[in-house]
Amino acid sequence: MHIQNVFLFKHVRFLVLSFLAFLVFLPQAAYGAVLDPQDGGIGNTTHYSQFQPSFTPGKKVDHIIYPLLSTPAIQKQGTNLTIKVDTQGKSPGGWQISLDSLEQSPVKNEYVLPFVSAKPGTSYWKKDGSIYDVTVKVPSNIPEALYDLKVTYTAGGSAVTDSQAHAVKVVKSFKKNFSFLHLTDIHVASPRNISDPTNAEEAGFWNPDPNKRWLYLQKAIREVNLLKPDFVALTGDLVFGQMNPKEYAYEYEEVYRMLKQLNVPVYIVPGNHDGYAQDLTLTDGLKYWNDYFGPLYFSFNYGPYAHFIGLNSFDWNKIDRSGNGTVSVPTWGGQVLNEQLQWMKDDLAKNAATAQAGQLHGLLAHNNPLFRDRDMWPQSDPEVQQYWKEYDRQHNPQTPANLILGEKLGTKYDQLWHGEGAQEIINLMKQYHVQLGLHGHTHVDNITQQDGILYSTTTSVELTGKPWIGYRIFQMNNGKLDSSYVYENPDRSLPVYQNGDTAGGVMSFEVQYASPNDGTAASQTAVIYNRLNRPVTLYVPFYMEKGVYKTTGGSLYQTETQGDKQAMEVQITIPANSSQQITVSPS
Ligand SMILES: [Fe+2]
Repeated sequence: MHIQNVFLFKHVRFLVLSFLAFLVFLPQAAYGAVLDPQDGGIGNTTHYSQFQPSFTPGKKVDHIIYPLLSTPAIQKQGTNLTIKVDTQGKSPGGWQISLDSLEQSPVKNEYVLPFVSAKPGTSYWKKDGSIYDVTVKVPSNIPEALYDLKVTYTAGGSAVTDSQAHAVKVVKSFKKNFSFLHLTDIHVASPRNISDPTNAEEAGFWNPDPNKRWLYLQKAIREVNLLKPDFVALTGDLVFGQMNPKEYAYEYEEVYRMLKQLNVPVYIVPGNHDGYAQDLTLTDGLKYWNDYFGPLYFSFNYGPYAHFIGLNSFDWNKIDRSGNGTVSVPTWGGQVLNEQLQWMKDDLAKNAATAQAGQLHGLLAHNNPLFRDRDMWPQSDPEVQQYWKEYDRQHNPQTPANLILGEKLGTKYDQLWHGEGAQEIINLMKQYHVQLGLHGHTHVDNITQQDGILYSTTTSVELTGKPWIGYRIFQMNNGKLDSSYVYENPDRSLPVYQNGDTAGGVMSFEVQYASPNDGTAASQTAVIYNRLNRPVTLYVPFYMEKGVYKTTGGSLYQTETQGDKQAMEVQITIPANSSQQITVSPS
């Protein structure tokens, strides 16, 4: 607890210092962009449109409401998939459903999913929609990959088409020894990333070249794609949202664009930075969440082997989330209210009725329910006592008269789990044998085991991360988690950069190709570097001319052709601190 307290004090001081540092260093770090006084020159919308002339912000979640980029379906070949579509009051017919190769895939294929049935349905999160459950078959010859989902139907004599990026992962089979990866607090457009001028290049703060923006996140994503876990959990704070009242409009668009660089399915819950409500413009971050990512909370299965709950731990009434869109935000703290708790209980009870023995049960929540402000601060301090007394006067109970006061106490003692629901969540985890909690928010690695539950808090993919910018990989081994989630010391995450040195810019592992890997080569050589102090198993993509190939160094995992191109994937394990070569040549 003492370490946490030190962190908290540092965190408050850090925010103030980093904002001041930001103002000082901005001119050097702004890549020649002209500062616009309209918004203080911070996260400037003018710069954004200048750099992205084709930029069209817009909601991504429209007709298709499941599966989504944030709540994808992992679907076995040859099985039925049920899609939920909101026809927005229309009576639908003529359903056509397909899976398309990802935008970044050089091999473009479209697979039609045979229609099975469509009938009226419901949605727990989109209650005012006209929901249809559309069941289709996933043919057994579709290559194992992540796909965009496209839905077309006719309504009132005209065709409606909607698509959802990265919504369906097709698998040959579910693996008993599956792996998943935990990323958190990626904070696209955070000015805290330019508080250290030696890191300006890696921060890539609104660099006009999108390939040079937020390199820490781009490099993390490149590593994730090479590791190719069965899925990724992303536990909130996707954006910054604390600078000006307009910034969600471009930050959500930008983080969505970044997440589309992932080649693996990702499940995403919100954090406090994603959900502020801004007084000046009536902008609600959680409305943006609905438009870009859909539900605020959900559950998902990895076949019969895992069931995860994803919670919104920034579950405050709007007035509690409202601020003036500057660094003086209303609250940073965690809360889960009764409606969500009831949903969680119902979901876990329903799963318990059908789950097979040995299923892994996990929880995703931005805030760790173990880390509570009321426990963290010295109870003997009269100022702390006064703070909680005033807090309770404003919030308990949450009557309209109390709510109108809002949370106008400042955020001095408001850092971690601040409101209701923490103990109730832990009780439900115990009751339904949830073995694992994945959390972020503190930007500090921490592993706590309590009552047989592993609470894993992971550092950020933002410069504030301690001990470095990183993520965790979890590997199941004979129905149990092995120790992959810690790197070296007891609680450490895997560093994105060699030895955690962000300014050095060298990745912990990477692939270097001899020729462009773009489908034009008839032979190719790749050198794979592992700079970690432990082995890694990677999936290395090769995009070749169509042909018959042999590979050396690694084993061929999958191959797919389209037109005159061929995509191959080679699996290889690289020992600690070493490099290996893969060659692909005509056989
Ligand atoms: Fe964060």
